[in-house]
Amino acid sequence: MSLENLRREYRFGRLTRESLHDNPVEQLRRWLDQAIEVDLVADPTAMCVATVGADGRPSQRLVLLKQVDDRGLVFYTNLGSRKAREIAGNPKVSLHFPWNAMDRQVIVGGTAVRLGAADVLRYFISRPRESQLAAWSSRQSSRLSSRQALEAQFLQMRDKFRDGEIPVPDFWGGYRVEPDEFEFWQGGERRLHDRFQYRRDEGGHWQIERLAP
Ligand SMILES: Cc1cc2nc3c(=O)[nH]c(=O)nc-3n(C[C@H](O)[C@H](O)[C@H](O)COP(=O)(O)O)c2cc1C
Repeated sequence: MSLENLRREYRFGRLTRESLHDNPVEQLRRWLDQAIEVDLVADPTAMCVATVGADGRPSQRLVLLKQVDDRGLVFYTNLGSRKAREIAGNPKVSLHFPWNAMDRQVIVGGTAVRLGAADVLRYFISRPRESQLAAWSSRQSSRLSSRQALEAQFLQMRDKFRDGEIPVPDFWGGYRVEPDEFEFWQGGERRLHDRFQYRRDEGGHWQIERLAP
C-alpha cells in the first residue's frame, strides 16, 4: 500500500471556543482525564519534549508527565542526558502530547526549570525499587559498549544498595516546564480542524485565539 494513500477522516469530535476552559492548564487536565478514561491512547501521560542544542539543532524524546498544575508540567530524567545538557544551555522547550487516537494533539511552549531536591526526593522514593536501581545503573545518553554492560551495572547497584533505602543519584532530577503558550488541536472532517491557541498577555492573562488549520 502506498503511503500516499494512507489517510482517514477525523471524526472524534469538535472543539468550540465556548467549550474551552479559560485556564489552559484546566483545559489540559480535562483532555488528559478524557485520554485516560477513554483508554484509546497508550501512555496518555507521555509527552514529547523538544530541546535545542548549542548548534541550533533540535532533538526530541518522549517522557512521562508526572504532575501538572498552575506552576507547570513536571517530568523526571537524568541530569547528564542530552535533553538536560541542552536545557542547561537553552531552557526554552516545546512539549507535544500525541493523542491521535482521539484526533487530538496538545502543544505547550515554555521554560524548563530544575526541580528542587525535596520534590525530586519525594518522587524518587515513590518509584519501584527496580526503577530506582535502573536510574543508578544508566548514564543516560552516553555511549554503552553492550547490553551486558548495562545488566552488569544493574546487578552491581542492586548489590551495593542491598540494604535499606536507595538514595537519589546526584545525576538524577526533574524539571517543571513553566508554560507561556498552549495549542489544543482537534481534527475535523474534510481536514477542517479546530485549533485554539492560548498566550499570556502583558497583564499575565491568557488570551485565546482560533488558528487556521
Ligand atoms: C513512553 C516513554 C516514556 C518515557 N519516559 C521517560 C521519562 O519519564 N524520563 C526519561 O528520562 N526518559 C523517558 N523515556 C526515554 C526517553 O524517550 C529518552 O530515550 C531518554 O530520556 C534519553 O533522551 P535524551 O538522550 O534525548 O536525553 C521514555 C520513553 C518512552 C517511549
